[in-house]
Amino acid sequence: MLYHVIRRALFELTPETAHTVALAAVRALRWYPFGSGLTQTGKPVELMGLSFPNRVGLAAGFDKNAVAVDGLFALGFGHIEVGTVTPRAQAGNPKPRLFRVSERAALINRMGFPNEGAQQAAARIRGRRGRQILGVNIGKNATTPAERAVDDYVACLRAVHAVSDYVTVNVSSPNTKGLRDLQETQNLAPLLTALLEEAHGLGKANSRRVPLLLKLAPDLTDDELRAIAILLRALPLDGVIATNTTVSHAGLESLPHADEAGGVSGAPLRPRSLEVVRTLRNELGATMTIIGVGGIMCAADAQAMRAAGADLVQIYTGLIYRGPGLVRELAQLSK
Ligand SMILES: Cc1cc2nc3c(=O)[nH]c(=O)nc-3n(C[C@H](O)[C@H](O)[C@H](O)COP(=O)(O)O)c2cc1C
Repeated sequence: MLYHVIRRALFELTPETAHTVALAAVRALRWYPFGSGLTQTGKPVELMGLSFPNRVGLAAGFDKNAVAVDGLFALGFGHIEVGTVTPRAQAGNPKPRLFRVSERAALINRMGFPNEGAQQAAARIRGRRGRQILGVNIGKNATTPAERAVDDYVACLRAVHAVSDYVTVNVSSPNTKGLRDLQETQNLAPLLTALLEEAHGLGKANSRRVPLLLKLAPDLTDDELRAIAILLRALPLDGVIATNTTVSHAGLESLPHADEAGGVSGAPLRPRSLEVVRTLRNELGATMTIIGVGGIMCAADAQAMRAAGADLVQIYTGLIYRGPGLVRELAQLSK
């Protein structure tokens, strides 16, 4: 009810300004008393050697620089994924680069990984108050040539390994030229092999094992998904996050902003994300962790994602349209 009023005010602002304001407000919640109330909502689940207090997490991109982690946990999330971070700070694409398509409960973004760099995020994470499960999503700088991409991911992993509970390898954002080519198995295999090797070494040095997950695009064909699944099982990787935003603007035709370049998130993405999760679960078997994300706007959507094979769910666009009430609604889902 209250969020309706807040949302009306936020939606008067440009989407990116609204985001800055909302993030600052959530950051102020960091003094919320930990270990009580919302942070305890839900039923715990063990995955990848981690104990998640509930099955709902915040998807990457909302808190790119880890500025509001403690406040975000106060909303009731069981885990938070920060980033995408890149080795060096970068400005991202020119503004405007984020658009609402409210008629379809969707967003279009072409942010292009604006962030302050992996080291800066790591320093902030080190200073947080709580110790809840925090993932860091890593990527490559826009100016790094494709043949040096592995170096960027390895540099990010080194920067965040000691402070993250899991690390997500993001090869699926549509707004960094060439990034999605890393999903091709001939590129993905050397990338993931290098990261697993590095994680092994860092694990010994830091006396902690940090699971590695891969975040995939919804625009892969089923054949491409199957090829990736074979690789992930062979390595093996700890888990998959499906999906990132889609380049398909189907369903948005003739609405304001529908023609803006960028990835679509929110309700229109849901059917394909569900399908991708279902395919991956079939191909990956029962044990590999799958985090389902894409268009989850209510408890029934989360349940459908669970039924498709996801162990955990994440939200981003749902939080913008439904507010923090959605986090509690999803966290209370018992299974
Ligand atoms: C404004 C915006 C920025 C995003 N930035 C990132 C990012 O930096 N890294 C990433 O892996 N995903 C990013 N995403 C994708 C989300 O994490 C998520 O995969 C996608 O939005 C689908 O979920 P949703 O429909 O619940 O929003 C971003 C999404 C939005 C809307």
